[in-house]
Amino acid sequence: MSPRAPGLVGLLLGTVTILGCQRAVRYPGVGAANAPAEEQKITPLPTWSWQLPWLPPEADVPIVFIAHGHKDWDSLPAFWNVFPPPAAGLRTIHFAQSPLGGAAAMVLADRLETVKIKVPLGLPDPTSNIPAANPPTFGKWKLGREIFFARKLSSGYDTFSCASCHQPDHGFAEDRGNTLGGTRNTLGLINSAYWRHQFWDGRAGALEEVVVRSLDDEAAAEHTSSSDRPQETHRWGGLVRALDADVDFRFRFETVFGLKQPTQDAVAKALATYLRTILSGNSLYDRAEHERLRQQAPQLRAEHFAMFLDGPALAALEPGVADKDSVAKQLVRGHRLFHDKGCVACHRGPLFTDHDFHNIGVGESSRFRISGQETGRFVQVPIGLKEARLVGAFRTPSLRALPRTAPYFHDGSFPDLLRVVKYFNHSIAGNIYLAEPLRADPTGLAKALDMDSDDQDALVLFLRSLDGGPVDRIVAAPGERRGMAPGERRGVSPP
Ligand code: HEC
Ligand code: HEC
Repeated sequence: MSPRAPGLVGLLLGTVTILGCQRAVRYPGVGAANAPAEEQKITPLPTWSWQLPWLPPEADVPIVFIAHGHKDWDSLPAFWNVFPPPAAGLRTIHFAQSPLGGAAAMVLADRLETVKIKVPLGLPDPTSNIPAANPPTFGKWKLGREIFFARKLSSGYDTFSCASCHQPDHGFAEDRGNTLGGTRNTLGLINSAYWRHQFWDGRAGALEEVVVRSLDDEAAAEHTSSSDRPQETHRWGGLVRALDADVDFRFRFETVFGLKQPTQDAVAKALATYLRTILSGNSLYDRAEHERLRQQAPQLRAEHFAMFLDGPALAALEPGVADKDSVAKQLVRGHRLFHDKGCVACHRGPLFTDHDFHNIGVGESSRFRISGQETGRFVQVPIGLKEARLVGAFRTPSLRALPRTAPYFHDGSFPDLLRVVKYFNHSIAGNIYLAEPLRADPTGLAKALDMDSDDQDALVLFLRSLDGGPVDRIVAAPGERRGMAPGERRGVSPP
């Protein structure tokens, strides 16, 4: 052994100790500065992460998704349908959007064999995207909905519910982008059942992973450094503890999961099951496209749109305009531009996304000049899989609920659709990592699309026509008041 070895070991030990201390600083005890003494040290219990059931969970009702093309689709009258077992002697029950129907559906669904969800026209079957570990059931769904609307999340001295930011009456996004102190625009949760990566930078895979990731998250419900705050990280530590402290919730976890107490794993499963039912389709575009396919027409034509442009549809699309033929013509023009100007290169398929990530020059996308300070998808992909094109790249968003989810882009910097279209038309901030389809040349200079102002209006109108129907009331409104503070936002107003 060389005489210098003990010194090296000492240095190593010292480094380890220092790194250990820094970690302690990153995750300070709860309310280290001001909170009462008994709250200062929270040691996360391993059982908060996951447990095996100690009781057999109560028999739960499976939820199945019936998408367009399935033989039962046509015969299902509305989104949420309950099929009683034949022995019950009841006929198919249909509960559309009425509040009373909703309440009755809740009571009945508990006693029936299967809850069938009619996936709205235009959307594919989400079943293949559901992890085998978490088959959807009515019990998990109902618990997930309760957690979603319960004010049990905390950051500093503020408490939120998921719905504080993911507001049902704003496409489950935030009306003003991000008002609670994070830098990324709150994503709308409509149709999130389909995304292959979660978040703007895709740092989570399954919907089950978005709220809590590990026991570390529980260690501190009050985060001091800005990079640790759940508004930034979206790791809502403290949620399991808050639910554990609530007798009603403890009871619900016992009946649904057979657990002695809530766990991170069970919370994730319940929330994801609920989130998968936030669906919206049957847009004007979907109906026109369906009609085109029925007629086996090679292209969308104005009459395909015009058939569905009744008074309410017109009013929703373009308030104050009553001439349905001219609106239908504009929609066809917008649809052509969407294809001819290359939007479909990335916004393609029934969900208008390629599930990929691109640098389009907005916001953080141009901050990459110092190595180690890149942003976007590049930071999140594992070492060995880094690709230059992912520097400053963000997820291609779906375009299916745009009128409800303003402002736009990962930083929420664009307040309306016309400005987004103008940006793509001639103001893209060129950079060396700019996405290939938007480039004019290898240096990253952006293409100009040469759309005049009528073209731009038509494209905006087409984007608006992709907006689907309202999320079913059973999903969008909190069912029970449990855990909700007085005056808390209570879901959507009836359509
Ligand atoms: C303080 C506001 C806030 C609260 C509270 C909040 N979120 Fe979020 N949520 C966001 C923001 C901002 C994003 C986008 C973050 C990003 O991409 O980095 C997001 C993203 C998501 C996503 C990813 C969606 C997608 O398309 O990839 C899901 C799912 C989600 N939140 C679910 C929830 C659930 C469930 C809760 C409650 C446990 C919750 N959120 C609470 C602000 C919030
Ligand atoms: C190279 C792929 C690509 C092309 C081509 C493309 N987009 Fe996008 N689009 C994206 C990405 C990626 C984002 C999110 C970028 C961000 O936030 O940094 C986005 C964002 C958007 C948004 C904002 C959505 C939201 O929820 O915030 C709209 C609207 C949009 N695009 C419409 C269009 C239109 C219209 C065209 C054609 C003129 C087009 N896009 C062409 C990839 C593309």
